[in-house]
Amino acid sequence: MNLILLGPPGVGKGTQAKLLIDRFGIPQISTGDILRAAVKELTPMGAKAKGYMDSGALVPDEVVIGIVEERLAQADCQKGFILDGFPRTVPQADALGQVLSGMGKSIDHVVSLSVDKGELLKRLTGRRACANCGAGYHVDFAPSKVAGVCDACSGQLVQREDDKEETILNRLAVYEAQTAPLIAYYQAAGVLRSVDGLGTVEGVQSDILAAIRA
Ligand code: AP5
Repeated sequence: MNLILLGPPGVGKGTQAKLLIDRFGIPQISTGDILRAAVKELTPMGAKAKGYMDSGALVPDEVVIGIVEERLAQADCQKGFILDGFPRTVPQADALGQVLSGMGKSIDHVVSLSVDKGELLKRLTGRRACANCGAGYHVDFAPSKVAGVCDACSGQLVQREDDKEETILNRLAVYEAQTAPLIAYYQAAGVLRSVDGLGTVEGVQSDILAAIRA
């Protein structure tokens, strides 16, 4: 199954992707995670991406298209994949269509998640991740047993650089201007499945499964 999770920052794409990996045995391809790893490892691509990411802007299309094209060619994507955070612009969606068509593949479902802006702000300002193992938490919705400490490895929990309120507002504006048009794009292609992202993580997961089986 070839799946795209589409939706604004903080809607729950990463959280839901991790559950889908276990269920379908296919990999998550998160361009945000790949770019953050490149920034951390100080690679030339990371150096190029950092300024865009810190301000909440999108990294140039040619950079992310190259990342995804390379990743889709890897063996673990043969059975399918979950794209999380890509495509984010119409040129990225066009490029993805061309790459997949060259591989004899296509997108089966685009799950479009939505929640209101107030909820997005709460989810993003309260998000924390372990600096050591990357496990995800939320200060209110999914807290660690000891504040600031990872349950799994006792690493320190940190806030993402771009999860400061001012940057979040910019990311949301960028989403509306550049990514939201993909809803109509995939609706026209007949693969859009709209799912309400409000509710428990398990409840949203079951709505996603129902939408892609319908
Ligand atoms: P990226 O990492 O992709 O960030 P994003 O799309 O802004 O998405 P987030 O990771 O912030 O949110 P999410 O929807 O995954 O929510 P999550 O599950 O974590 O991109 C970062 C940057 O990289 C971009 O700004 C850009 O610069 C660059 N970039 C990446 N891809 C690019 C591309 N294709 N083109 C150009 N640039 C690109 O959930 C959020 C919080 O809510 C968590 O704490 C979670 O625990 C909690 N939560 C989740 N679900 C629920 C629920 N149901 N109830 C309560 N809490 C919940």
